[in-house]
Amino acid sequence: MNISGKIRPALLGAALAVLAVPVGAADLMQIPAKAATDGFKLSDTLIFPAFDPALGRKLFAEKGCVVCHMMNGIGGEDGPNLSYGQYDTPVNAMEVASDLWEKASIMIPAQQDELGAQIKLSPTELAGIIAFLADKNEQSHFKKSDIPAKILKDMENM
Ligand code: HEC
Repeated sequence: MNISGKIRPALLGAALAVLAVPVGAADLMQIPAKAATDGFKLSDTLIFPAFDPALGRKLFAEKGCVVCHMMNGIGGEDGPNLSYGQYDTPVNAMEVASDLWEKASIMIPAQQDELGAQIKLSPTELAGIIAFLADKNEQSHFKKSDIPAKILKDMENM
């Protein structure tokens, strides 16, 4: 059958519908657990760092995210609650990165105000925080004693 000259509208419609539907999480390949904890190569020219939720839990407190974001019932309310379930699940890592970029113009001045400077995050640190946002179990261990004294002080001064 040769349809190259005259693509039938119904076929074209069906093809476009397929393109428009985002890939469901169920259709995605599961990488080995070791890849998530060690980092992985998506291709020869693209790599991802380790996604370590325990590191993320530590940084959520130490970097001061908790000053403005609620987590497991602890934290400020300047920014949206980031507890599990606030993001569509499974959490899309790049959606979090995209939101950070989109909200940068609001968040950076707020951080300068409340913490004295913009929070800096290395690739591994950002990956860890994103892994933490997607990990209900790790979040359930988040407690006030995770928060360093300096950050607690920033929280009280808000
Ligand atoms: C000084 C306050 C403050 C600090 C500290 C802060 N944020 Fe925010 N953040 C905000 C505010 C305010 C918004 C919401 C902006 C808006 O939607 O208008 C926001 C938005 C976000 C969003 C987007 C949420 C969404 O639904 O669009 C993410 C993700 C986020 N912050 C993550 C973080 C992380 C991770 C840290 C720590 C590394 C952090 N924030 C530190 C104030 C802060």
